[in-house]
Amino acid sequence: MRFSAIIPIVLGLGALVLSFLALFAGSRKGFMEDYAVVTLNTSRIGQNVINSTQSSSSNPVISFFHNLTANIENEINNDLNSFAKDLGVHDFYSAHILDFCEGYYTPTSVPNATIKSIHQNVTFCSNRTAFFQFDPRYTLQRELNASGHGNINLTALHWPDSIDKGLQALHEAQKAAFILYCIGIGMIGIVTLLAIVSIFFEGRLSASVNILVTALAFMAIAIASALTTVIAVKAANLINKYGNPVGISATKGSKFIILTWVATGLVFINLLVWCFACAIGRGGSHRTRKNEYVEH
Ligand SMILES: *[C@@H]1O[C@H](CO)[C@@H](O)[C@H](O)[C@H]1NC(C)=O
Ligand SMILES: *[C@@H]1O[C@H](CO)[C@@H](O)[C@H](O)[C@H]1NC(C)=O
Ligand SMILES: *[C@@H]1O[C@H](CO)[C@@H](O)[C@H](O)[C@H]1NC(C)=O
Ligand SMILES: *[C@@H]1O[C@H](CO)[C@@H](O)[C@H](O)[C@H]1NC(C)=O
Ligand SMILES: *[C@@H]1O[C@H](CO)[C@@H](O)[C@H](O)[C@H]1NC(C)=O
Ligand SMILES: *[C@@H]1O[C@H](CO)[C@@H](O)[C@H](O)[C@H]1NC(C)=O
Ligand SMILES: *[C@@H]1O[C@H](CO)[C@@H](O)[C@H](O)[C@H]1NC(C)=O
Repeated sequence: MRFSAIIPIVLGLGALVLSFLALFAGSRKGFMEDYAVVTLNTSRIGQNVINSTQSSSSNPVISFFHNLTANIENEINNDLNSFAKDLGVHDFYSAHILDFCEGYYTPTSVPNATIKSIHQNVTFCSNRTAFFQFDPRYTLQRELNASGHGNINLTALHWPDSIDKGLQALHEAQKAAFILYCIGIGMIGIVTLLAIVSIFFEGRLSASVNILVTALAFMAIAIASALTTVIAVKAANLINKYGNPVGISATKGSKFIILTWVATGLVFINLLVWCFACAIGRGGSHRTRKNEYVEH
């Protein structure tokens, strides 16, 4: 029995759990919400319409906020903390691999002198979908429609078309990353099973098969991680570039990026372990040779 196989079994199980978590993070309300690929912050959406002196008074957003401020003058506590909530949309939208979640920042959306730590309070997550693509224009417009505040649309809120075009350009990479995560997880599962089997069957053949499957698993999960990292960085940069002037911002999911690369690192170490095991096996212990003959 080859008890050193315990090391690749532990590494394989670790990589399996972490890559599963990367795929399923945020797929349920309250489950690893921090591990979004990218988070869109719309808490100040529409603010620049009100700031801008050139906004025509026919813009429904202007008339909406005139009504709102007229109504709340008595309510001292409502300091227009969340423009988004008043409009009927949410403070943030976090895109995960399989779905998106939305909710409000608590206790407030913008840090000030007394409030420095802001939490995300998730109110809803979409259903899990293979090949999920987050379309913020569609989602925000649907919520604006549902709010029933006149005929406010995203164009009146100065939502930039360039954000939609830029996100569409990332869709093919997202599809590829999803497929590669699935392949990677499957391969890591197989290699972990093989490692368990190799406790009982030693020999060079078993180590060589494990090297091959682990190398494929490593390639799949490494490319998936690289693609998702690029998607997170590009989407955040793009949204900040075009969105910041109109009160929209985004952050890339640093925790997600760390998680997926740690999973990749474990698979890589696993590959090194199998290469080492194969090299030692090649030296040829007599015991191994004898067992091979006995098996025949
Ligand atoms: C709108 O004006 C307020 C106060 O004048 C300022 O703090 C805020 O950054 C402005 N927002 C935008 C999006 O221009
Ligand atoms: C603002 O109030 C006026 C009068 O109450 C109403 O006619 C108008 O539709 C309101 N505008 C919005 C955007 O709610
Ligand atoms: C959300 O975006 C606004 C405007 O860009 C910013 O002032 C605020 O700090 C952001 N809030 C969080 C929690 O990131
Ligand atoms: C910070 O924001 C909170 C909530 O909106 C408010 O109660 C508090 O007075 C603010 N503090 C300062 C120093 O503005
Ligand atoms: C989060 O939102 C729910 C309603 O959706 C509310 O009942 C709860 O108090 C909120 N939590 C915090 C910490 O604000
Ligand atoms: C989400 O799934 C539930 C049941 O699983 C279904 O009833 C609901 O219609 C789905 N929602 C969407 C938006 O597809
Ligand atoms: C919102 O409403 C408009 C018309 O009022 C409609 O054309 C549009 O398709 C709706 N959008 C969504 C996402 O439901």
